[in-house]
Amino acid sequence: MPDLTTPIVLARPARIVFGPGSVAETGRWIRDSGFSRTLVVADAFNAGRVPLLGIAGEVSVYGEIKAEPDTSDLAAVTRAALEADAEVVVGFGGGSAMDLAKLAAVLPGSGQSLDDVVGVERVRARRARLVQVPTTAGTGSEAGSRALVTDPVSFAKLAVQSDHMLADVAVIDPALTLSMPAAITAATGVDALTHCVEAFTNKKAHPAIDVYALEGIRLVGKWLPRAIADGQDIEARAGMALASLYGGFCLGPVNTAAGHALAYPLGTRFHVPHGAANAAIFPHVLGFNAPAAPERTAAILQALGLPAAADPQAVLTASLDWCRGLDCTMRLRDFGVAACDLPTMAAEAHAIRRLLDNNPRDLSAADILAIYTAAL
Ligand SMILES: [Fe+2]
Repeated sequence: MPDLTTPIVLARPARIVFGPGSVAETGRWIRDSGFSRTLVVADAFNAGRVPLLGIAGEVSVYGEIKAEPDTSDLAAVTRAALEADAEVVVGFGGGSAMDLAKLAAVLPGSGQSLDDVVGVERVRARRARLVQVPTTAGTGSEAGSRALVTDPVSFAKLAVQSDHMLADVAVIDPALTLSMPAAITAATGVDALTHCVEAFTNKKAHPAIDVYALEGIRLVGKWLPRAIADGQDIEARAGMALASLYGGFCLGPVNTAAGHALAYPLGTRFHVPHGAANAAIFPHVLGFNAPAAPERTAAILQALGLPAAADPQAVLTASLDWCRGLDCTMRLRDFGVAACDLPTMAAEAHAIRRLLDNNPRDLSAADILAIYTAAL
């Protein structure tokens, strides 16, 4: 495992604005920077509250982002950016809106297609400035340089990573999350948790990131139950927004591992929201990995406020009960998955080497099938 002598690169948005009421910093930064043509990339709900961003000048809104965006969604956003001749792109929503905003800031007019840039640092240049404004607390996409788009034919997640897709400004206003329903609060909150957990038990775990991972887990343990119980609790919302940001810090230099790999087929094949998919998988992978990282697994449970444990069954039971306590859907069959679907899902997950190779314990396709079967 890496230690203090292992080199690491930390790349963050140049400016991070955090706190209730800070959403209008978006328009202020755009105006002070001298830009006048802005494209806002949003889902339908957030498209209805674009005025909160306080942007002056020409504002175009692409407001049709949906969960698990695919290549046709990206094509539509790219067209919108070209038509708007946007100097600034604002991602306003959850991970899907922010991921497509990243690509809309680099692809239009570049001569590069999505295929040209899938992978690491293949984007040639930034075309527009980028501001990210998350409205959920989970993806951490505002802090990172990676965007995911689904291939509608293969169901594969195409991952683009580029420093050109780092936000110039991330505006994190926890008040924007007050309207999130309890179920979405729970699912997105567990997504933030899994970013921190999978980075903390990662083969590439690093002391420079461990501090964010462990604190992110502690923040989720403290604030997520409160944010679910009372959506108007701004302190709890702020705690979760910070946990999400810290999870985002974990994603860049370390990234996730088996939990996300096993969750992806649920999203691409069954359209299970990303956070809900991660929640259903999380306890099983935490238990499976416990023998390979017993001390870190125990520290995770303690940070969540649970008794320390490293026995796989005890870890599974404790974390499963914790997720159930948040009212997360923990049975794959409740998402419409049948036993006959599991072998294909296991083969698909097993092929996601960019994540599975980070996992502290090797998973065979049979191991993955066993986890899916246990979670069914
Ligand atoms: Fe995630």
